[in-house]
Amino acid sequence: MKSYTLAVIEGDGIGPEIVRESVKVLDIVGERFGISFDYKPCLMGGCAIDATGVPLPRETIDICKASDSVLLGAVGGEKWDTLPGHLRPEAGLLGIRGALGLYANLRPARIFAPLKTASPIKESIIGDGLDIMVVRELTGGIYFGERGRKEINGAAAAYDTEMYTVPEIERICRVGFEMAQKRRKKLCSVDKANVLESSRLWRETVTRLATDYPDVTLSYMYVDNCAMQLVRNPRQFDVIVTSNIFGDILSDEASMISGSIGMLASASLGQGSFGLYEPIHGSAPDIAGQGVANPLATILSVAMLLQYSLNEQEAAAAIERAVNDVLCELRTADIFEEGYQKVGTAAMGDAVCARIKPAKSA
Ligand code: IPM
Ligand code: MG
Repeated sequence: MKSYTLAVIEGDGIGPEIVRESVKVLDIVGERFGISFDYKPCLMGGCAIDATGVPLPRETIDICKASDSVLLGAVGGEKWDTLPGHLRPEAGLLGIRGALGLYANLRPARIFAPLKTASPIKESIIGDGLDIMVVRELTGGIYFGERGRKEINGAAAAYDTEMYTVPEIERICRVGFEMAQKRRKKLCSVDKANVLESSRLWRETVTRLATDYPDVTLSYMYVDNCAMQLVRNPRQFDVIVTSNIFGDILSDEASMISGSIGMLASASLGQGSFGLYEPIHGSAPDIAGQGVANPLATILSVAMLLQYSLNEQEAAAAIERAVNDVLCELRTADIFEEGYQKVGTAAMGDAVCARIKPAKSA
């Protein structure tokens, strides 16, 4: 039997609830496909601050590094909002991505067929489907650049710096090109090259790399235009590659097209097969502990984990099919529509588990 070690970070807010359902799904997948998982719980975010005083304890990084991959719920909450920046839960999230060298964040935005009518975008625009992959740079740019406070002419001021090196741009753009090669062979590089010097370097670099990928059609788009085009005509996109901050913003937008941010999974990868998998939504403190959160983004993150890090393609596909089947009958509150049965977090997780078919009959 194949066996994998997974670091599991439940985090804050709805994190523990949605991770619990995903672990249930993994266990069933393990049973059906002959894989065993050894889970190593660890702390990050607000719960880590409460327990250890810091958002990312050294022990957590060590456990993650000793594992095959990491499953993460979500971090953050009002309770920790007034702490200084480097002690906030979000610093833990940025810190772990940096510490593990996870520079490539894959955020697929696609519509499961049964959810077409749950998208806020008209069916005429969605057509027969939507499948965009946002490739977000994750360990550089303004989220990691020099920042600070100072005084200018007696007024308090603050600054954050957007900076990219050519090797950083190259490695993320290569991920974009390679992703496009496996899909519809279109790569759109999103920047703000009409204003930002860092974007001009980005554009020069991606243009130079394009000669290595003659089968991929490269286009460019300014980020403001892209935000608009995602709503006007999302089907024009295949793979989008972009900086940390632009990818953060555009992936939230793209997720909504797919019905709910509660549906979007993500994979954060570096060199090799190790990865960190998390839903793109946050810790949703307003609904934490009520058992109503949508666990599907985390469950789909587990499918990505099987796909990208463990190369268990059949098991990954089985989860995706189960999610699709479940959506034909059941909905959590965020994707609820008349005619469907409204269920909570645990019932949704159980329903996915019940629909995971064994390897042979899949
Ligand atoms: C995300 C989140 C994080 C980010 C925050 C919580 C630091 O918005 O994963 O998209 O900006 O990367
Ligand atoms: Mg975000």
